[in-house]
Amino acid sequence: MTPDAKILAALRDHPEGVSGEQLATSLAISRAAVWARMESLRQAGYDITAGPHNGYRLVGTPDLLHADDLLSRVSGRVRVIGRDIQVFKETTSTNDIIEKMARDGLREGFVVFAESQTKGRGRLGRKWISPPGKGLWLSVLLRPALRPQETTQLTIASATALLRSIIQVTGLQPQIKWPNDLLIGDRKVAGILTELSAEPDRVHHVTLGIGVDVNMKESEWPLELRSVATSLRMVAGFEISRVELAATLLENLDRDYARICRGGFGEVADEWEEHCTTLGREVTVQMGHRTIQGRAESLDDDGALLVRTEHGLLERVMGGDLTLKKRPADAS
Ligand code: BTN
Repeated sequence: MTPDAKILAALRDHPEGVSGEQLATSLAISRAAVWARMESLRQAGYDITAGPHNGYRLVGTPDLLHADDLLSRVSGRVRVIGRDIQVFKETTSTNDIIEKMARDGLREGFVVFAESQTKGRGRLGRKWISPPGKGLWLSVLLRPALRPQETTQLTIASATALLRSIIQVTGLQPQIKWPNDLLIGDRKVAGILTELSAEPDRVHHVTLGIGVDVNMKESEWPLELRSVATSLRMVAGFEISRVELAATLLENLDRDYARICRGGFGEVADEWEEHCTTLGREVTVQMGHRTIQGRAESLDDDGALLVRTEHGLLERVMGGDLTLKKRPADAS
């Protein structure tokens, strides 16, 4: 952990206050250096008071993504995902940054957040709107020992981890639309873009990109998206702490990645199915020029969707654009 991460962790562990002397000893730096770190954290927006009796106290945390703050929250609680974190004020796409880090040989588990993206991208070449400070836009570098066709497992695991995190932090109950969309009602609140570098039988690395519309307002989407998108804030009716959601998400991603790596996709799939709005529904899947229509029956061991077509065939769907047919109860 960096000195700032250690200071933030100590302040959080001691809400009653911690002396400059204690901090200086545990960090093996001078009291003047502690004072300088406090000044820099205050500049970053942390409200830290200093008193003669209680020492330093953290009385307010900004809802800014700060790598040291995130590290101090997850350190000791994650094994791989979140052991290295970097935050950009603005970037093209966090997936681009991770892609470069992967080529530079950085270790797996590296997480990049951006406060805003100028070229955020979604699946199927779509644009992902990523205004500053309103959401979580992050990417994770993974180097799993999986075959390329098994990497849908990672998308399923990430969607499950994200869903669990949203429930834990907000109390809202999103649902998963295969494979990677999180919906509340029939509106999308989050999505996952998994990009792969692989040979036919070996994965080099995976870039897992996650976008969550946390505190967006309706006016922040272009007109054509307003009826299909929503944010956690719009549904909950109050601002959601992005920092808390980000830290919870890293812990859950780390836990579910570990489950996938030890061959426990079955456990993850059970949880995914419990919250899935796709299984048992009539669906249309557009795969390039091909369209499949039928009933979504189950997931197979790789995370592919099995669709029973109107002709009774069981089709295995690995990707594509899936539309859910409205149920009579959905029509208003
Ligand atoms: C989708 O639902 O189509 C996937 C959206 C993924 C968006 C995230 S935001 C962080 C990362 N960087 C990107 O450019 N895209 C992903």
